[in-house]
Amino acid sequence: MKPSKEKFTITYKGKTIELPVYHGRQGPDVVDIARLYKETGLFTYDPGYRSTASCKSRITFIDGDKGILEYYGYPIDQLARNGNFMETCYLLLHGELPTSVQYEEFNEDIMKHSMLHEQIVKFYSGFRRDAHPMAVLVGVFGALSSFYHEHMNIDDPVFRNRATVRMLAKMPTIAAMAYRYTLGWTFVDPRGDMSYAGNFLRMCFLNPMYEYEEDEVLSRAMDRIFILHADHEQNASTSTVRLASSSRANPYACVAAGVVSLWGPAHGGANEAALNMLKEIGTVDRIPHFIERAKDKNDPFRLMGFGHRVYKNYDPRAKVMQQTAHEVLKHKGIDDPLLEVAMELERVALSDDYFIERKLYPNVDFYSGITLRAMGFPSSMFTVMFAIARTVGWVAQWREGITDPDQSIGRPRQIYLGPTMRDYVPMSERG
Ligand code: SDX
Repeated sequence: MKPSKEKFTITYKGKTIELPVYHGRQGPDVVDIARLYKETGLFTYDPGYRSTASCKSRITFIDGDKGILEYYGYPIDQLARNGNFMETCYLLLHGELPTSVQYEEFNEDIMKHSMLHEQIVKFYSGFRRDAHPMAVLVGVFGALSSFYHEHMNIDDPVFRNRATVRMLAKMPTIAAMAYRYTLGWTFVDPRGDMSYAGNFLRMCFLNPMYEYEEDEVLSRAMDRIFILHADHEQNASTSTVRLASSSRANPYACVAAGVVSLWGPAHGGANEAALNMLKEIGTVDRIPHFIERAKDKNDPFRLMGFGHRVYKNYDPRAKVMQQTAHEVLKHKGIDDPLLEVAMELERVALSDDYFIERKLYPNVDFYSGITLRAMGFPSSMFTVMFAIARTVGWVAQWREGITDPDQSIGRPRQIYLGPTMRDYVPMSERG
């Protein structure tokens, strides 16, 4: 961080202090408030962390006003159009795009570790068949921590790299098994000669009675969707992983905590919620009614897949997602009326003052459900695929956080509004 010539001064109860300001490579400057409490007795109050930078990072840059998203400086649309997910994983983990040799070695290492220990497979049988796949993912992925705990040494780069490879490699296998378990289908092991995305689709959709024929267009679409969802700065689930790992907990368990946070409909669960919303709207003529509901403060209904804490412009991922939706629907010969509803809903909302004033635009979750449904997935699997993609972001941010000398256990304070001290009253005297 580069110190700014500007200072931040604060005067409180007649005392003025000066706090240092720092420039990042790009984006807002930050004021370092580490001394604030010690020198003024003040805490800052920022529920939802709207004005708070929780860490330093070099991985992902977002400019919400301009609708910019870059992974180590590479624009997301260029990576989505020209690269592949494994290449993007290497970039997020190492800060540079791989050479062809580095790529082959990385890809092979991931494939080699994509099988599950047979004891892990036994965990599935404890779930009900109608369990939500995200609940299964949380449980089974978290269980990995029981298999790889004995050598846990997060200060050892060898342990970190082994944990990194295992988490990236096993997440799609666990996810595909969670899907097949809900259907009562036998599990399918990964193959070593397929792409990460192609392998995942085969593990989900293979019918063992027939040879599996990979659909390259769908594998490419899946790969692109993984790229779009790979990382996104300090979002709720990534911040969960960082906070959990700040106590130096087992990284497999910390990533499982990220899965939990992602599940919420305000976050990664919005892709499932957005498709369910489009189904509820059903037809274009019902859009005005739902737009009015979304604007009504007394109605809890919100446009799912719309709005974002950071983007006050069009989410750059949503544009690529919309194009991918058209591509997959055309390839599959599907004329999905919900795509027309989604595009008309976007058009009406973006011309409505309520949404314009609040800078509410479609986000990454608005179109993804239409694409994933066309690929054959039930909406309950949509956030699972978000979790597969985001695993590399969680792991990259975990690695960055635990090796940052400035980081210590995350322990926020509070403003206390409860009762002042009072003496215990025996139950017999409580009336
Ligand atoms: C993801 O953080 C990330 O980077 C997340 C993510 C990632 O890649 O990790 O990008 C992935 O989670 C995308 C977001 C998915 N969630 C949804 O699509 C759910 C619907 N969106 C909203 O719940 C909301 O927009 C949030 C949660 C995404 C953002 O909430 P904020 O930043 O707290 O915004 P806010 O609630 O303060 O909204 C500001 C105003 C409010 O109105 P006023 O009180 O000012 O009158 O906008 C309104 C809100 O009521 N508003 C909406 C709305 N979103 C915000 N009104 C209707 N529909 C919406 N979707």
